[in-house]
Amino acid sequence: MKMAWLTDIHLNFIDKNARKIFYQEIVDTQCDSVLISGDIAEAPSLSDILNEMENYINKPIYFVLGNHDYYKGQIDEVRDAMTALTKEHNKLFWLPASGIQKLNNDTFLIGQDGWADGRLGDYQNSRVVLNDSRMIADLFKKKILGKYQLLEKMQQLADADAMRLQNDLKQVINQNPRKVIVLTHVPPFREACMHQGEISGDDWLPYFSSKVIGEVLATAAKLDPEIELLVLCGHTHSEAKIYCGSNLEIEVGKAEYYLPEIQKVITI
Ligand SMILES: [Fe+2]
Repeated sequence: MKMAWLTDIHLNFIDKNARKIFYQEIVDTQCDSVLISGDIAEAPSLSDILNEMENYINKPIYFVLGNHDYYKGQIDEVRDAMTALTKEHNKLFWLPASGIQKLNNDTFLIGQDGWADGRLGDYQNSRVVLNDSRMIADLFKKKILGKYQLLEKMQQLADADAMRLQNDLKQVINQNPRKVIVLTHVPPFREACMHQGEISGDDWLPYFSSKVIGEVLATAAKLDPEIELLVLCGHTHSEAKIYCGSNLEIEVGKAEYYLPEIQKVITI
């Protein structure tokens, strides 16, 4: 089984013709399915673009959302729309709604969106202000109250997704897989958050990483060393590949606005 992995493709930035050329590149890989680790579009265009992808590619598309997918929207509304889309379309799978996917006899797929949790780096002294707190209604409301109200909201979102991932991992491990592929948008470890060939600085790390998801993954990997965990993420737009112990591998895709690309074709 061949799966084309995409991340941070930001398809709302390019026109329909350019999107079709990209879809054809995906079809040309002769993949059996598509994996997307978030930042597909923005809230107002997300459903239409996913429909368009499904119609053109005509293969199962398994995805999680990134922060940009919530831009110009409200988190609950976007999630309700993705849940409905997953129910109504037989080839679109927002993994938090569709749940665990058995890809073959010994490989399973799970995914949760994930949010930066401000726990790595130096949130207190960071001068970074991410567009998220202007473009996502839920974060904007907290940002105007103050920097710590925003942090509280970021951590609430990150922790809720980490709990969901922990539950998915528990369920999937009970099925004795050999391998589990995990899609999540925000890289889970400092070492996976690269920028221009180096680990991101302490000012950016609070917004580029999810420490809590890292803890959930590391605990699951230690608990069951026989199971191979492959985690695919995006968000930083900077390539990284790290190993945490012998059975936990994290890959972060590289990306550029206006130039969506296929990260790799994964064969299982
Ligand atoms: Fe992102």
